[in-house]
Amino acid sequence: MRFDDKKILVTGASGGIGRQIVQRFRTAGGQVTVADIDVAALEAEAHLPGDLLDANYADGLPAAAATMLGGLDILVNNAGVITRGSVVETTDADWNLAVGVNIEAPFRISRAAIPLMAKSGGGVIINVASCWGLRPGPNHALYCMTKAALASLTQCMGMDHAHLGIRVNAVCPNEVNTPMLRSGFEKRGFDPNDAIADLGRTVPLGRIAEPDDITGVVLFLASDAARYLCGSLIEVNGGKPVQ
Ligand SMILES: NC(=O)c1ccc[n+]([C@@H]2O[C@H](COP(=O)([O-])OP(=O)(O)OC[C@H]3O[C@@H](n4cnc5c(N)ncnc54)[C@H](O)[C@@H]3O)[C@@H](O)[C@H]2O)c1
Repeated sequence: MRFDDKKILVTGASGGIGRQIVQRFRTAGGQVTVADIDVAALEAEAHLPGDLLDANYADGLPAAAATMLGGLDILVNNAGVITRGSVVETTDADWNLAVGVNIEAPFRISRAAIPLMAKSGGGVIINVASCWGLRPGPNHALYCMTKAALASLTQCMGMDHAHLGIRVNAVCPNEVNTPMLRSGFEKRGFDPNDAIADLGRTVPLGRIAEPDDITGVVLFLASDAARYLCGSLIEVNGGKPVQ
């Protein structure tokens, strides 16, 4: 898969999955704008650091990226946060964070990106949702709800903007070996390596996903091989159901 001269914007670019997405698009010839709180250490064609909870920053990202690289062909809404607990354990701060990063930011960025893509004849949007948004998992009520909202937004946008040549799809991973998962184990007092090995034994394929297992599907969705996919939610779970 080649993405020569494609102009690509990736949010959450400094995270476990985001870094791999950036690297693989660049290796395949793409020009990438990286967005995250801190992007100083990332190799990329353009850097747009900022906080997605800042509405002005999220609203302005697509135009800023298009100005820096001379267009916008592919947007990956990858940034996300995980909040743990049932509803009664969920604070207002959890709500504002999860709704802000996982739903409002992709909404704002997509809303700004779609007219730009339409003007240049089309584009691709890929949202990183989660299996946990397609079916509920225990003790992550807010996370599941926000990823379900992102999955629904993906289906709606996939339908509404296909006529403009814009394809919108989502990847829905189960557990992936990234700082998001590892820090959760650390907070709960587990050794992340042991916990990830244990978790791997619950996956029919025998291991949890590495970031690159997800990235390959992101690149496929961005490629011409996926030209007839619109509003699809692709589960990438090694055969493991949500439990
Ligand atoms: N790791 C998993 O098990 C898993 C499973 C399913 C889905 N996902 C999803 O994959 C995506 C990538 O997650 P990851 O596992 O690489 O996690 P990660 O924590 O390594 O990366 C997430 C990135 O998002 C950025 N981010 C968070 N809040 C932000 C904000 N307010 N402004 C700007 N950037 C912000 C972080 O700085 C971080 O670099 C997320 O949407 C996540 O929900 C992850």
